[in-house]
Amino acid sequence: MVNYTITTAIMGERPKVTNPNKGFLETLTEKGFTDMIEHFYSEVLDSQIAHFFPDDEAELEIIKTRNGSYFMMMCGGDERYLTKYDGIFDQIKTHEMFSIPDKARTEWLGCWETVLKPLEGKVSDEDIQSYWNWLEVFSKHIVNYENDRSTYEDNAKTK
Ligand code: HEM
Repeated sequence: MVNYTITTAIMGERPKVTNPNKGFLETLTEKGFTDMIEHFYSEVLDSQIAHFFPDDEAELEIIKTRNGSYFMMMCGGDERYLTKYDGIFDQIKTHEMFSIPDKARTEWLGCWETVLKPLEGKVSDEDIQSYWNWLEVFSKHIVNYENDRSTYEDNAKTK
């Protein structure tokens, strides 16, 4: 059984991150991984954090490609994110232009849960768990906006 528990992020905390097992990408294959990223973004665009992302399809495609490439690299894939996109990735800098409360992180992780569940049985629970744990912990690093856990960024802006 995969445990999709979400623990609360404390703003400013940077818990230690462990990369996902290589087996996650190995079993999924590069094609499967890319399909998973597609699925994830379709969930995101249908979620309460859709407003964080561009409406423009071409812009979104670029984000998908770059994000997918980075995630694949973190799962033990090649270094395409670094070589192709010249991307020395900085988790904090990439996201600091957005106000991200823990509520938005929770919604983002919820999209991932929807995407990962259908992979159960195809990829081992252990490998999915390692990927989930990486998402759950690393996403804490970018929470940069205090909220009462019932409002989203749009509401927060009007305060
Ligand atoms: C493990 C956690 C996360 C990682 C490793 C991550 C990583 C990334 C990467 C690699 C990109 C593409 C950057 C590029 O263009 O090169 C990206 C973009 C983005 N991420 Fe995250 N992300 C995480 C969590 C989140 C969460 C929780 C949100 C909440 C809303 C979020 C919102 C965004 C947005 C809005 C963009 C698009 C930026 C743009 O418009 O250029 N991310 N992220």
